[in-house]
Amino acid sequence: MTKVITYGTFDLFHEGHYRLLQRAKALGDYLIVGVTTENYDQARGKLNVVDSLMTRIENVKKTGFADEVIIEESIGQKVSDVKKYKVDIFTVGSDWIGHFDYMAEYCKVVYLERTKDVSSTMLRNQNFKIQRIGIIGTGRITGRFLMESKSVSGVSVQGVYNPHVESAKRFAKKYGIEVYETKERFFENTDVIYVASPHETHYEYVKEALLHDKHVLCEKPFTLQKEQAEELFAIAKERNRILFEGIKTAYCPGFNKLIDIACSGLIGNIRYIDVCFTKLENKNTRELTDTMYGGSFLELGSYCLLPVFKLFGWEYEDVDFESIYGTGKIDLFTKASFKFEKGLATVTCGLGVKSEGRLLIAGTKGYIVVDAPWWKTTYFEVHFEDTTRVEKYSDRFLGDGLRYEISDMLNQINGNNKSEFKLTRKESVAMAGVMEAFLNKEGKG
Ligand code: CTP
Repeated sequence: MTKVITYGTFDLFHEGHYRLLQRAKALGDYLIVGVTTENYDQARGKLNVVDSLMTRIENVKKTGFADEVIIEESIGQKVSDVKKYKVDIFTVGSDWIGHFDYMAEYCKVVYLERTKDVSSTMLRNQNFKIQRIGIIGTGRITGRFLMESKSVSGVSVQGVYNPHVESAKRFAKKYGIEVYETKERFFENTDVIYVASPHETHYEYVKEALLHDKHVLCEKPFTLQKEQAEELFAIAKERNRILFEGIKTAYCPGFNKLIDIACSGLIGNIRYIDVCFTKLENKNTRELTDTMYGGSFLELGSYCLLPVFKLFGWEYEDVDFESIYGTGKIDLFTKASFKFEKGLATVTCGLGVKSEGRLLIAGTKGYIVVDAPWWKTTYFEVHFEDTTRVEKYSDRFLGDGLRYEISDMLNQINGNNKSEFKLTRKESVAMAGVMEAFLNKEGKG
């Protein structure tokens, strides 16, 4: 009996997939089809897969060509599958020519001609119109956002708006996008607005964008008042628009794995969280010159609140802030101490004090530690009373990480809503409440 194996994502199952499987089956007597998991696709940068693993498997099965379907979870699995299933022929489409020649050491390799003019990428782009993104603001993050958006198929950064027209022009020229001098023209030509303007302007811009029926991705901190956040989410709901806060960490695979492990009971009941984020800033930056809305807590606090709210919930009993100030009462370092029903949390942020950006989650059976930069989680360890027992976990973090939130936003817009739990409205509203409490305490509310 000749055994044949092939692999693929098989998203939005199409004729090319059907013909590939038909010819793969014809190469032998028994066909094994490996279908990729969502995690594996994410890890190799394929972020916009629409169909679930179950749907993709069902579609492969429906062809009647597969005698067995297996799951492909990681790079390097192919060789062990060939050995395990005693495979004679490995086959894939001609788009992979040369790529799998190394498999010839273990079995025969056949590249089948790829069917012309059809692919999942093409279908994804046809089924869902390209979302034209408009950027408000031209700070450092927007440049990174723009570069990251290039790795997500289905979006295109159309143009930029900034009341400082000269900055907008410079930015647009650098990145080859349009510059819109009036908001009317800006809204006319865009579907999704990325708000990355100074913190205190978020509320007005988000509201305006929603009232123009745009979807909105707003940089952290979303708003500086709880009521404003609630109002914006209510408008988004009423107008059926997607609105979410761009705390990139929330959408990254490593951070999500960390939260899953922390919630799994492995370290028992979580009782204490210690989280720190510091970034030494140049003295002339907005963060260190804006006496009203500059400073470390507004700049970095959202990141630190994320694991705390994810693990303890957003309803804290008490919070206390202590800061070290620079000129103009700008907080160079802030420590926020939270009391929750389930435990305690310490959040420290610094723009003028350097510390280790570490996340520690302590439980009744053990603790999890993520070294700096924990907000780009790629690796973490679980420790126990028995110091010889250490469990190690890792995951990919591609590029600047913004691609994950852009891709999740696109999925939400296209109705493939699988990511809302990663940063909920309630969490964003509660974070706005913490920002408000901090500003009130500073006498800036
Ligand atoms: N395939 C093919 N002809 C096509 C598209 C895909 O023969 N027009 C083959 C691929 O070469 C691969 C298998 O089908 O062997 C599964 O490919 P997959 O990556 O799932 O499909 P694509 O349409 O190429 O997906 P994407 O656009 O997301 O890369």
